[in-house]
Amino acid sequence: VLDKPNAVLGLPTGSSPLLTYQELVRLNHDGVIDFSQVTTYNLDEYMGLDGTHPQSYRRFMNENLFDQINIKPENTHVPSGIGDGAANARDYEAAINAAGGIDLHFMGVGRNGHIGFNEPDEYFSKGTHCVNLTESTIEANKRFFASEDEVPRRAYSMGIHTIMTAKKVLVVASGEDKAWAIRESCFGPVTPKVPGSILQLHNDAIVIADAAALSLCGDFL
Ligand code: GLP
Repeated sequence: VLDKPNAVLGLPTGSSPLLTYQELVRLNHDGVIDFSQVTTYNLDEYMGLDGTHPQSYRRFMNENLFDQINIKPENTHVPSGIGDGAANARDYEAAINAAGGIDLHFMGVGRNGHIGFNEPDEYFSKGTHCVNLTESTIEANKRFFASEDEVPRRAYSMGIHTIMTAKKVLVVASGEDKAWAIRESCFGPVTPKVPGSILQLHNDAIVIADAAALSLCGDFL
């Protein structure tokens, strides 16, 4: 944003980005970063949750970032969890393209190597689409809900192709439960069974991980 005040950012939810968001809020309050010309597109949203639902990713983004910085609300975009999914997905892709594509896509990685909500699969997905969440993702994300039964089984996610067209990608990971995903994504075979592995083919991708998340990478570093 310092380099390009009207940057288009791809943004994630989850615990991985939280400290970064706190830091961005601080830098905005200190007058270092101005978000007034920035546009954002989030990776994903649970199907069936509207933006006011406490566990919706729209609400997460409003609370943890957008409401605390000087970004224009109309410049923030999160896939809609309700309404006509196919039409919403087409509109989302069209809006990203009309904005000139994503300059910097920030993201975490799931324990099973998913990026956004692109779960392990036989094929790499293309644009924004509807996904069935895997048991391991439902298990990992149930901590945010009152019970596992309340975790939506489906979601909308930006596709792998959309993510790969971002000019830069920045992945953050911490903790031992990400160690397998980081090893396989960074050093394993490029396969849709580990969606994050596609980032090995990205021209400008950076992974920032702590020692625990790198603990299975010893032979490769
Ligand atoms: C969710 C999100 C992903 C996120 C992942 C990891 O499933 N859809 O975008 O990267 O979880 O979350 P956390 O950072 O909380 O480990």
